[in-house]
Amino acid sequence: MQNKIVALGSDHGGYAHKEAIKRLLGSKGFSVKDFGTNSEESVDYPEFAEKVCRFVAKEKTFGILICGTGIGMSIAANKIKGIRAALCWSEATARLAREHNNANICCIGGRTTDKDTALKIVETFLSTPFSRGERHKKRIEKIGALEH
Ligand code: RB5
Repeated sequence: MQNKIVALGSDHGGYAHKEAIKRLLGSKGFSVKDFGTNSEESVDYPEFAEKVCRFVAKEKTFGILICGTGIGMSIAANKIKGIRAALCWSEATARLAREHNNANICCIGGRTTDKDTALKIVETFLSTPFSRGERHKKRIEKIGALEH
């Protein structure tokens, strides 16, 4: 995974976590593309969700989106074709989002998830492969069919 670019985005509610995640990924050798925001000034999360998700869908990579709860980012992200965004609040949900749902976007709540947990979520999400079992593959294909 380290050879791919991980896309990051947040609103003001997720800005502090985004910066911590960027430092973590840099220290682990990941290439990161930061789509903002770049301060705690109030902004609208759908704009950042769209930028990150268009990049992830095109480059077939992973993205991390953080807003206050992670909910708005999840809702916005899942409107974009090719995106499977999962709201993750623990290492277990991050692992299952990859293993069962083949999620390509990890959403985190900057105000609902503490920073250390957020960093563990990101590490788990980026290091867990999709379980290639037939039952999961079939379900992911059915999700894809909903886009048409
Ligand atoms: C912004 O105040 C807040 O609504 C946003 O960060 C997020 O939690 C939305 O889902």
